[in-house]
Amino acid sequence: MKKLRLVITGNPGVGKHTSANIIAEKINAEIIDINDVAIDNNATGKNTDLGFDVNVKKLLRLLEKLLKTKRDLVLVGHLAPYVLKPAGISLVAVLRRSPYELEKTLKKRGYSVDKVRENVASEILGISLHDSVKTFGKRKVAEFDTTGKTPKETADEILAALQNKQKSKPKLMGIDWLNLVSEKGDMRRFFKY
Ligand SMILES: Nc1ncnc2c1ncn2[C@@H]1O[C@H](COP(=O)(O)OP(=O)(O)O)[C@@H](O)[C@H]1O
Ligand SMILES: [Mg+2]
Repeated sequence: MKKLRLVITGNPGVGKHTSANIIAEKINAEIIDINDVAIDNNATGKNTDLGFDVNVKKLLRLLEKLLKTKRDLVLVGHLAPYVLKPAGISLVAVLRRSPYELEKTLKKRGYSVDKVRENVASEILGISLHDSVKTFGKRKVAEFDTTGKTPKETADEILAALQNKQKSKPKLMGIDWLNLVSEKGDMRRFFKY
């Protein structure tokens, strides 16, 4: 049987790890945390308030090796589109979350004002989705809005997409936070200019 390689990506705070844990347990897959692989293998670089740099080439090689040898996997991390190749990947789930909820989550995490702003701005612009489509191709990518949902609901939606059981194909590019934020007159709140 073909090995499962589910990728869960998206901005920090959208709900990747929480839903990945539920999914991995349900289908008895192993979770690989991409950040942990980088940290555990010295594939990281400069550390700043905004996060750490990674050695993309090294991380790519490390993950390739894991993909070759491991059983069913759920690969989790916002770096996924920069350190994985599309071959062998079953589905790339890009989790999205309303900037208003995301801001609350990241503040609660204790992120600095700048780090919250940078991450929320990135979510509004849909960078993770854009970069995922660019790397993996639109046929492998689906986006899931976690806003107002429970982790279990999100996990079930991703599982349905994985097993092709959903009624309609999950939407791609269907989420438009930019329009929402602009309509609410909140551009200045999220973008420094
Ligand atoms: N639908 C949802 N799916 C996943 N997590 C959610 C959802 N709704 C709220 N959360 C909460 O969001 C917070 C951030 O989730 P986490 O999994 O740590 O995000 P990430 O790994 O993307 O940084 C957690 O407290 C989690 O319980
Ligand atoms: Mg996480």
